[in-house]
Amino acid sequence: MDRRIAVIGTGYVGLVSGACFAYLGHKVIGLDIDEEKVEKLRKGKVPIYEPGLDRILSKALSDGNIEFTTDYEYAVKNSDFIFIAVGTPSREDGSADLTFVESAYRSIARYIGDEDFKVIVNKSTVPVGTGRWAREFIASLLRERGIKEPEKRFEVVSNPEFLREGKAVEDFMKPDRVVVGADNRDVAGLVASLYEKLQPPILITDLPTAEMIKYASNAFLATKISFINEIANICEKLGADVTVVARGMGLDHRISLHFLRAGCGFGGSCFPKDVKALIHTAKEVREEPELLESVISVNERQKLRPVEKLLKHIPSLEGRRVAVWGLSFKPETDDMREAPSIPIVRELVKRGAYVLAYDPVALENARKVFSEELKAGRLELVSDKYEALESSDALILVTEWDEFKEVDFDKLKGKVVVDGRNLWEPSIMKQFCTYESIGRP
Ligand code: UDX
Repeated sequence: MDRRIAVIGTGYVGLVSGACFAYLGHKVIGLDIDEEKVEKLRKGKVPIYEPGLDRILSKALSDGNIEFTTDYEYAVKNSDFIFIAVGTPSREDGSADLTFVESAYRSIARYIGDEDFKVIVNKSTVPVGTGRWAREFIASLLRERGIKEPEKRFEVVSNPEFLREGKAVEDFMKPDRVVVGADNRDVAGLVASLYEKLQPPILITDLPTAEMIKYASNAFLATKISFINEIANICEKLGADVTVVARGMGLDHRISLHFLRAGCGFGGSCFPKDVKALIHTAKEVREEPELLESVISVNERQKLRPVEKLLKHIPSLEGRRVAVWGLSFKPETDDMREAPSIPIVRELVKRGAYVLAYDPVALENARKVFSEELKAGRLELVSDKYEALESSDALILVTEWDEFKEVDFDKLKGKVVVDGRNLWEPSIMKQFCTYESIGRP
């Protein structure tokens, strides 16, 4: 059955979820407070780089299954399910900042009526306990408005997302699982039924368990990466090859081959933020999350590993020119949040180098991130990978975009090349340049 869904927030999670629900046949209202963005979305213009999303969105628009608005009253009154997909950025102390979530609850509570029953679904990653707190909070707002039996007018549900950037549409349409947490099982079943057409494995839980599944999943994947990076660093000293070690481990199905690629660390909008938030939550309940703290500290160190490797061959970078290939936190996205390229470029600049950086899609975001380095004339963003390389003494590969796989070896001659993602074959590279990679002899 087609349902009426509002999605609050048209960022990457909200827009993908809203467009995909509409593609599945539901009637979706996407709400954002940014007028300009809403105007663009109405015309089918996708403001982020996400493969396949424009196609899904234009189909949903032409079928009349999705519309966009800035009007909370309209969105709340014309929907039965209200998904919250607003940002939960990290505060200075690592905790999640719930300002946007709280403000969404307030706006929704303003328009819930005496006869209504609304299902409010948290898609945003919120600290464990937020769902139950939200129930009290929204009920108190309704009570203030004089709404009768406020607890019966809505239910709060947790339905965390597991969408990878660059593969978000695919992950939505073919989920490994759909997790729905609610203290009222019938309502959880209603939310699960929104995904019926996809026939995913469904796990129905209580509220805090669903919230914890999201954090534990991301923390575990981040742990795998820090683990393999630490193994890589040991491999290097002992002459072992981490890529083969990872394969040998991963063929054991209890371990699996995924997320065992050693490199220069993880970035992005989720892993660093979620692990830090989980550490913060654990400390609030007087637990000492030692393992999780190490996941972060190993990662921070790993990001600078390519620079250390470069220094082995060029001990002083003063006045030297260094090319950087890849700035986004991973391929297939223009997202630079927590990208390893940020500390790498800054460290190079701090050591006196002049940096020439290239990325296939992230240059616009890079311009904002590196505004100081650009102003100081220490960094140049170029639109061709060889333009960055030509006049440089060294190259650091930070993001393994497909277009870097193919390389004109002659252009590498005489240079120091640090491959931060083990993209190239050492035996070939060593014929042309001084080659370093991560965890390989
Ligand atoms: C992640 C989760 O995968 C997704 O389920 C969650 O909802 C949001 O966070 P995303 O941040 O888009 O998705 O990126 P992902 O593909 O998981 O990669 C995260 C980071 O880990 C990247 O910087 C990537 O380069 C790094 N990584 C990943 C490794 O260094 N090694 C690996 O083996 C895998």
